[in-house]
Amino acid sequence: MYSQGLIGADGRTEESEAFLEAFQKRIDAEEKIEPKDAMPEGYRRTLIRQIGQHAHSEIVGMLPEGNWITRAPSLKRKAALLAKVQDEGGHGLYLYAAAETLGVSREQMTEELHSGKAKYSSIFNYPTLSWADIGAIGWLVDGAAIMNQIPLCRCSFGPYARAMIRICKEESFHQRQGYEIMLTLCRGTPEQKEMAQDALNRFWWPALMMFGPHDKDSAHSEQSMKWKIKRFSNDQLRQKFIDATVPQAEYLGLTVPDPDLRWDPELNDGKGGYRHGEIDWDEFWRVVKGDGVMNRDRIAARRKAWEEGAWVREAALAHAAKREGRRAAAE
Ligand code: 3HC
Repeated sequence: MYSQGLIGADGRTEESEAFLEAFQKRIDAEEKIEPKDAMPEGYRRTLIRQIGQHAHSEIVGMLPEGNWITRAPSLKRKAALLAKVQDEGGHGLYLYAAAETLGVSREQMTEELHSGKAKYSSIFNYPTLSWADIGAIGWLVDGAAIMNQIPLCRCSFGPYARAMIRICKEESFHQRQGYEIMLTLCRGTPEQKEMAQDALNRFWWPALMMFGPHDKDSAHSEQSMKWKIKRFSNDQLRQKFIDATVPQAEYLGLTVPDPDLRWDPELNDGKGGYRHGEIDWDEFWRVVKGDGVMNRDRIAARRKAWEEGAWVREAALAHAAKREGRRAAAE
């Protein structure tokens, strides 16, 4: 079980300067923090928040793509999409398990998702209107997820870092199958290319929002980077994603829906990069706060799945208890 700092008289966790300094020394020495290690309560809470919301994003992220499994244009596309959606479910389970090592239960995290107390990535509140959206999600959403998740493989918290290594291997397949869908459409009929352009138009800006608010507006980045939970800032990762993705759009023959996008050879310390237009942060916060097109549907679907899955959880727990009983009796 995790070890907290001392709980003060007022219930707040009081941690001595020496305790906090010793912990930061471990972080600075690139040591991995494991669940049984003494850790500041703030570190623990930040990890529960981020890992739990990451897990929610994986599970809710299954819904927009699951919407197209029965409508995939071929058996091959159906098989690849089925595999991807199943992977996302597995990513959610690894991440919930990593969060549980910090003393939070699956039930508590699930309740916080259903009540709206816990967030998930706002991108999943946009509808999937055409098959091209499945390509755009794989290409852009999983592409952004990879950009953000590769550094998390070096997160200071051991279970999160280890979960990320497996997840990133699968994300690469997700991104490639999405880009291949877009390439096929762009090399298809004019209508198919238009469908791909329409999907890019609708998913480009929400994909940039996946990296979070600008650094100056990020509530958590500074501390998360000190604790080496985050290795790069939101804006740094967003810029890396834009610089990698714009050439891919050009190769597809598609236009990135940003009239302010332009190459600046001075950017990135003279290596060059793309300057881009401003993100609509009103839209971002409106969707994060629950007023997106699909927010209500997503949570309703998650509630329904949780309720309809109760019998499976009960059966699995009963079976585990019986097996434990038999093992104890045999000792
Ligand atoms: N959608 C919803 N909420 C968001 C958000 C987004 N795109 N970006 C930021 N936020 C929220 C944060 O959660 C935080 O709210 P909170 O205090 O209630 O948690 C607030 O906005 C301020 O943002 P910060 O930048 O201060 O927060 P973080 O330091 O946590 O940074 C993050 C946000 C970059 C998303 C970080 O949490 C992170 O790296 N998380 C792990 C990766 C992750 O969750 N990715 C989501 C997509 S997973 C995915 O796409 C699966 C793939 O298989 C398809």
